[in-house]
Amino acid sequence: MRTVICGSKSEIGKLAGKILCDYVKANPKAVLGFATGASPIPAYDSIVEEYKKGGVSFKEVVTFNLDEYSGLAREHKNSYYSFMQENLFSKIDVRPENINFLNGSAENWASECERYSKAIRDAGGIDIQILGIGHNGHIGFNEPGETFSGDAYRVKLTDSTIAANSVYFEDSLMPRYALTMGTKQIMECRHIILIATGEGKAEAVRAMINGKVTPMCPASVLQNHDNVDVFLDEDAAGLTDLG
Ligand code: F6R
Repeated sequence: MRTVICGSKSEIGKLAGKILCDYVKANPKAVLGFATGASPIPAYDSIVEEYKKGGVSFKEVVTFNLDEYSGLAREHKNSYYSFMQENLFSKIDVRPENINFLNGSAENWASECERYSKAIRDAGGIDIQILGIGHNGHIGFNEPGETFSGDAYRVKLTDSTIAANSVYFEDSLMPRYALTMGTKQIMECRHIILIATGEGKAEAVRAMINGKVTPMCPASVLQNHDNVDVFLDEDAAGLTDLG
């Protein structure tokens, strides 16, 4: 893992956004993997800024998002689809038909997850995947458990994840299940950019970087990936052995 400790969220956003934009400039047909949540927003802002300057086009890229709440229609304001529209997709020239999402409304979760896993394979795999990390070390919605997961699947969210994400559901009940890309699929992405900020992430970041590789901290598996950039602020890096 290459780790960079930055002075601010906006500095992280600029660095992470630049890696992604530079890749798309060189590879206009890139396959990009996106995450939702607070952590990547500054990176998405910097991508939009570069797009508005005319520096990059997303017309030919294909995108896949990591996860979606199960039981939530994509039109719901708290769906991850809506999040991506609001924070990135509506602000750049990505083609709607090139945007791929797990369908949270699917009644047959297993076949929906198979469809999504196949779509990622058919696209040739993901070139760059943006990740955040949960307080409990989750990546995507791969919660701590006894084994690392494989392809996309439906997962029961843990109390820690429900507590962290309930703040976004003011007037509706937060779903208890999600569909997510599995750990194996995340490991198959050719380049991973993980962003973590704030003291609340410090223990998960320590376990990811300095702990042993264990499914009890799903992010620790990234120690076995040879192309990971981790962007941290000082608070998130506070418990690691990084200078
Ligand atoms: C979101 C996702 C999650 C988040 C994680 C951190 O698509 O897959 O793993 O990255 O829960 O969320 P934030 O960034 O809101 O702290």
